[in-house]
Amino acid sequence: MTRYCFNSSHSGTGDLHEALTWVPPKEAPLFIIDAFFKDRSNFIANEIHPSSNRIFWLQANENQKSIEQLSSIWEWLIQLEANRSTHLIIVGGGITLDTGAFAATVFQRGLAFTLVPTTLLAQVDASIGGKNGVNLFGLKNYIGTINEPMEVIADAQVLATLPAHHVLSGWMEVVKHSLIADANLWSQLSHYQNIPRPENQPDLIQASSQIKRTIVKDDLYEGGRRKSLNFGHTVAHALESIGSRQAVNIPHGLAVGLGMVFSLNWSAQLAAENSRIELLHAAQVIRGWIEQFPELNCIRWAASLDPEEVWKHMKRDKKNRTNEVLEVALMAIGEAHWDTPIIQPSFEDVWRRLFDENSSAQN
Ligand SMILES: NC(=O)c1ccc[n+]([C@@H]2O[C@H](COP(=O)([O-])OP(=O)(O)OC[C@H]3O[C@@H](n4cnc5c(N)ncnc54)[C@H](O)[C@@H]3O)[C@@H](O)[C@H]2O)c1
Repeated sequence: MTRYCFNSSHSGTGDLHEALTWVPPKEAPLFIIDAFFKDRSNFIANEIHPSSNRIFWLQANENQKSIEQLSSIWEWLIQLEANRSTHLIIVGGGITLDTGAFAATVFQRGLAFTLVPTTLLAQVDASIGGKNGVNLFGLKNYIGTINEPMEVIADAQVLATLPAHHVLSGWMEVVKHSLIADANLWSQLSHYQNIPRPENQPDLIQASSQIKRTIVKDDLYEGGRRKSLNFGHTVAHALESIGSRQAVNIPHGLAVGLGMVFSLNWSAQLAAENSRIELLHAAQVIRGWIEQFPELNCIRWAASLDPEEVWKHMKRDKKNRTNEVLEVALMAIGEAHWDTPIIQPSFEDVWRRLFDENSSAQN
């Protein structure tokens, strides 16, 4: 069973070395670390210098979340004569953790590993639940396994250097967790007019990560409740794949935000009268956060899309089992119903009303 350790007890400057002091001692560990940190510390951990061959520096971008990157990691492990007793410490955002954990999981049928998440998204989401993998032929996260780390060591202070649009990505997952499982947490989040800096919000990070940990503990292989974590993501993935075809960069956080705005409006049609208002209000609050990134022009871009095209991409989502599109609906804040079928006419109806300029004030 994975041991989780979350540190918020010291203020810091985002220094990785300080965060790594929380990792329990290991015998001669090897490190896979996000290259963002390469020039930012004189030494990394246990007096290991950044130029040490015990560290594999990983460039975190989606194009390199690939088989080629895995091959390079495995080659490095072979050169260092890694064996079944080697322990890997994997440090970085979701790209580094997904790639490193997959590399560790299948090398010699499995090395033990520790995850040290350094983005907000990685602390509340990617480090939890054992999913790992890389992209294949342009298909996202198409190969991978579910295999949990020995431990996850998170430290809020490393988030001090995270740029705003990466904070947004993590924030939307924090929001998602509250909407699907914790109405009190949502009520707290909804009072923030501006998305807060995460290094100052260790309690929110912990509360959010605890929600995902509770969900995956009972349903690691996604037979039931874990599916609720896909809330807002079917539309988000459709928007990201249309964006990449059009060479429009839609940050993941904005895609998930738009997906949740859609799903809340759709859910409001299914929910009882007394929940409808809170669901629509939640959609409005999220829309407000998205609008704080006007330079990305996401709402206008989404409004320009043909809903039929969005629907086509939703049908291709790898989570659909049959010909239907299965969505997560909220019957109230905190009450998620997964595997709820959605049909094309109701998708298009909600989509059009959402982006119709005359009705945008209500949504
Ligand atoms: N395994 C899972 O359950 C799971 C869940 C959600 C997302 N993911 C995956 O996670 C990936 C996205 O992860 P992400 O949002 O963490 O992005 P990321 O790993 O790309 O990191 C974002 C950027 O931030 C930099 N960075 C990392 N830590 C930093 C810090 N402390 N300060 C400043 N910059 C820092 C990275 O170098 C990178 O440029 C996607 O590939 C997605 O598929 C996996």
